[in-house]
Amino acid sequence: MNRKHILLVGGTGMLAGLTSYLAIDHHVTVVGRDKENMANVVQRNPDTCHPLIVDYREEEALSSALQRAVRQNGPFDQVIAWVHRGSGKAMQLILDHSETAAVIHILGSRANPEYEKKCLCLNEQQSYRQVQLGAKHDGENFRWLTHEEIVHGVIDAIEHSSDYQLIGQLVNKGGKNG
Ligand SMILES: NC(=O)c1ccc[n+]([C@@H]2O[C@H](COP(=O)([O-])OP(=O)(O)OC[C@H]3O[C@@H](n4cnc5c(N)ncnc54)[C@H](OP(=O)(O)O)[C@@H]3O)[C@@H](O)[C@H]2O)c1
Repeated sequence: MNRKHILLVGGTGMLAGLTSYLAIDHHVTVVGRDKENMANVVQRNPDTCHPLIVDYREEEALSSALQRAVRQNGPFDQVIAWVHRGSGKAMQLILDHSETAAVIHILGSRANPEYEKKCLCLNEQQSYRQVQLGAKHDGENFRWLTHEEIVHGVIDAIEHSSDYQLIGQLVNKGGKNG
């Protein structure tokens, strides 16, 4: 087993199940702010799950936290980033510290994937793919994806390397963070 170093931004919320899944075989550095949520996730895989408690909107703090993670466990092989819109340079800083990584950028329902990509500077050694969160048709209405559906969708995207993958389907109504 080739143990990778994976950066999972937002891995203590709806992606907590993904953190636990990946930490079975890999080193996973997890970004979040809430210490209690972080402790709950880390305690499931204490040897391979590494907490990075930082607000990703604080540029200097994010940069030094990412540098620290790379010093401790080597360069990131893979990045999975769920970053709220309006978070300034957070996504770019994450890319700048992941120069040789395979990056999966998770987008909410209301994001425009082409625009999101256009806003970012990528280097030739990184790969960049997007996973967009849609909604599920439930009888006559649409509902949010469950955390389980989101985690399964992202695992599917990790295993199949298409440039863009939609989980569920897009509807005109936007979501809270989409
Ligand atoms: N289309 C869809 O289906 C869709 C789209 C979006 C959201 N949703 C739903 O809406 C719910 C809430 O969404 P959510 O975005 O709150 O998702 P979430 O994944 O439950 O929480 C956000 C994650 O990002 C971290 N985070 C947020 N802001 C941060 C910051 N400034 N610095 C560092 N880490 C930060 C959070 O950690 P901390 O809390 O510790 O900061 C947490 O790990 C989700 O549970 C999901 O089901 C659905």
